[in-house]
Amino acid sequence: MHPSRPRAAWRFALAACVLLALPAMAAPQDQAPDKRIDPFYDPEATAPYRTWDSTPAITMPPLLLDVSDTSVVVEWMTDSDSDGVVHYGEHALDHTATAQREGLLDVGTFHRVVIEGLQPGHTYQYQVASRRVVALNAYWPERGRTVKSAVARFATLDPARPTARFAAITDTHENVPRIRTLLDEIGKSPVDFVAHLGDSINYAVSEQQLKNVFLAPAAEALGGATSMFYVRGNHEYRGPFARALGPYLHAQDARYDFVRDDGPLHLIAVDTGEDKPDETNVYAGLNDLRDYRRQGLARFGQALAGARTRSAPFTVVLGHQPTWGWTGGDNAQWTRLANQAKVDLFIAGHVHRFMHIKPGEWGNDFPILVVGQDQVAWVEADERTLKVRVTRTDGTLVDSFTLERRRK
Ligand SMILES: [Fe+2]
Repeated sequence: MHPSRPRAAWRFALAACVLLALPAMAAPQDQAPDKRIDPFYDPEATAPYRTWDSTPAITMPPLLLDVSDTSVVVEWMTDSDSDGVVHYGEHALDHTATAQREGLLDVGTFHRVVIEGLQPGHTYQYQVASRRVVALNAYWPERGRTVKSAVARFATLDPARPTARFAAITDTHENVPRIRTLLDEIGKSPVDFVAHLGDSINYAVSEQQLKNVFLAPAAEALGGATSMFYVRGNHEYRGPFARALGPYLHAQDARYDFVRDDGPLHLIAVDTGEDKPDETNVYAGLNDLRDYRRQGLARFGQALAGARTRSAPFTVVLGHQPTWGWTGGDNAQWTRLANQAKVDLFIAGHVHRFMHIKPGEWGNDFPILVVGQDQVAWVEADERTLKVRVTRTDGTLVDSFTLERRRK
């Protein structure tokens, strides 16, 4: 007989007794915690895995990015590792979207959740929540408590509505008072979204730097209610953290070029790359934009070839460099494609001062508006006219003009 058998049998008998006794030992059903009526019910404290009394702090409030007619990106940061969940809905917080990748919830201090399946032109309330992750054990990871943001509201775009309105700023270059002043000025008037046309940083150093000099001030000023479109500038190509910027600034499909429709506006955002050839010594052989820009040109052509370019009252291109940047010699091709598609307006930055390049001046059949560093471009469209105003941060006027709808 195996020496351990009597001991094993005794254990089995004891376990069976305990299991049989459990129903009698358990609290009657009507005394079980009921989270619907018991204000002290705390599922986190009673979780079957180890839970610490540790709650993350939200160090960057929710920033909305790249809103479309059916979706939006929500980003926020916490001071410690946690998961990321957005509770949202039209009339109640009755839907959830999580930050997850390939079957695992994201765990970290930066949280990016894409909410999909929304209705065009509808307003939604939402609240972000992050629950602390203390230890990522293989089994029985250890958790903490949940922090929640205030409830805020946003509206999706609606390609079918008769009017649209947005504001564009650019080249804030790590100047926090500048971005606060610009966004506070924009906040005085309702807009569907704000476009930042690039160079929010001088060069990318770290997540903390990006948060401190751009993301957090922008999130605070926009109040989690107005979405931003981010257009990549040449300075976003530089620095030790440049290769990691995508998740913070990308549009929904993890690209820097994208197409959105807002009422009469067909918007095409392009990535105008670096401002010097790949071979320039300052890049030390680490830039290879030649093929990337050729692919960008092809994607620009595909975007312009879409039916919406012909049917939308106005097509507006958003980019950083008004000359399309360093393209390896294809600059005229970008202009030619835009001319062929009857682009109505190109809004750019990069130069740090206002310019209004009229049709014909640079081979362009459309005006090119270059927004200065401390200026706001306001664009307002209905089905017949597109009105543009550029103002300084004190509200004084720099330029204004109106474009009439063209036959396409
Ligand atoms: Fe620039």
